[in-house]
Amino acid sequence: MEHLFATAAIGRMQLKNRFVMAPLTRQRADVMGVPLPYVADYYGQRAGAGLLIAEGTQPSFAGQGYCRTPGIHTEDQVVAWRRVTDAVHARGAAMFLQIMHCGRIAHPLNRQIPDEPVAPSAVRPAGQMWTDQQQMQDFPTPRALETSELPALVEEFVAAARNAIRAGFDGVELHAANGYLLNQFLASNTNRRTDGYGGSVAGRIRFVVEVVEAVGAAIGLQRTAIRVSPGHMFNDLVDERPIETHRALLDALPTADMAYVHVMLPDSFSPQMNNAGDPSAVLPALRPHVRGALIAAGNLTAESAENMLTSGLIQLAVFGRPFIANPDFVERIRTGTPLAAPREDLFYTPGPEGYSDYPALAA
Ligand SMILES: Cc1cc2nc3c(=O)[nH]c(=O)nc-3n(C[C@H](O)[C@H](O)[C@H](O)COP(=O)(O)O)c2cc1C
Repeated sequence: MEHLFATAAIGRMQLKNRFVMAPLTRQRADVMGVPLPYVADYYGQRAGAGLLIAEGTQPSFAGQGYCRTPGIHTEDQVVAWRRVTDAVHARGAAMFLQIMHCGRIAHPLNRQIPDEPVAPSAVRPAGQMWTDQQQMQDFPTPRALETSELPALVEEFVAAARNAIRAGFDGVELHAANGYLLNQFLASNTNRRTDGYGGSVAGRIRFVVEVVEAVGAAIGLQRTAIRVSPGHMFNDLVDERPIETHRALLDALPTADMAYVHVMLPDSFSPQMNNAGDPSAVLPALRPHVRGALIAAGNLTAESAENMLTSGLIQLAVFGRPFIANPDFVERIRTGTPLAAPREDLFYTPGPEGYSDYPALAA
């Protein structure tokens, strides 16, 4: 595990190891999107990782889709996040914030504003989502964004990124994966625009490129990252040619100067959720198109991560579910200690149970 435990220089960060905690939505904010006090405990406990990526966080009330997710657009949110980044930095880890605009993956009951959810096109996602008031509900049909609204939407991401820096984050990861707004622009089934922001691959990548460039200009490209999930058909998102789309996207992005490109691999255990082909071929297909650091998540084990780091395929290894029940995941790998299993029924429930109460190994 020599490479996993080696230090790394990524963007402006000096990382103590190459373990990264993946962004994990846990819905422990209040209804106004303010992270609750025990959120700082939870992230602080997991700061054995070199880098932590905080959960998907909305840049505005309009960007919210799920109930109790945090935001980064009010002063109360910035103050609460500052406590989180302080707890993580106190242990010598770095922290990015994932900025997540849900687009059409939203229900009005989960939002603090009456506006309907927006998306590149008025295409209703199949399926349902949880609301605290009325349990599972069908997704509504989103309103298609007007071309004239796009500059303000770019500015929303910029303002959120500036707030993240004020809250002490080392940078931001723009969420263009898993079927949310930026991914909805990229994919052929969710983007049917005819205004130059859709249609061809060049049209579909355009808005995402504009957001990355604007955020990079505002806070520095070295503090700007992106997450993509080519071929992951989550949230009813299907791109006809995901590898082709993502190659074009990466070629158009200033990846040499960005903090990193984060790939979430399509799930090798659910072939019905993957149209990118062999999951093990995804990173090799994209690697030549990333001129800076490439990091990846998706069913990694310490062994598979070490192999990918050794070969130079990736520069950091990202782990999600293992961090949920193992606050000291890095220490457990170092000592060869068995991992605890997370309680999935408590992934998204309010309160510290199943969240900040998983014990570390006895000292
Ligand atoms: C409870 C839970 C919440 C998640 N929330 C997010 C999220 O907010 N943003 C995101 O990009 N991915 C999210 N994911 C995906 C993870 O970041 C990660 O890519 C995935 O769990 C695969 O990694 P793993 O096999 O190590 O768990 C979530 C996954 C889980 C299990």
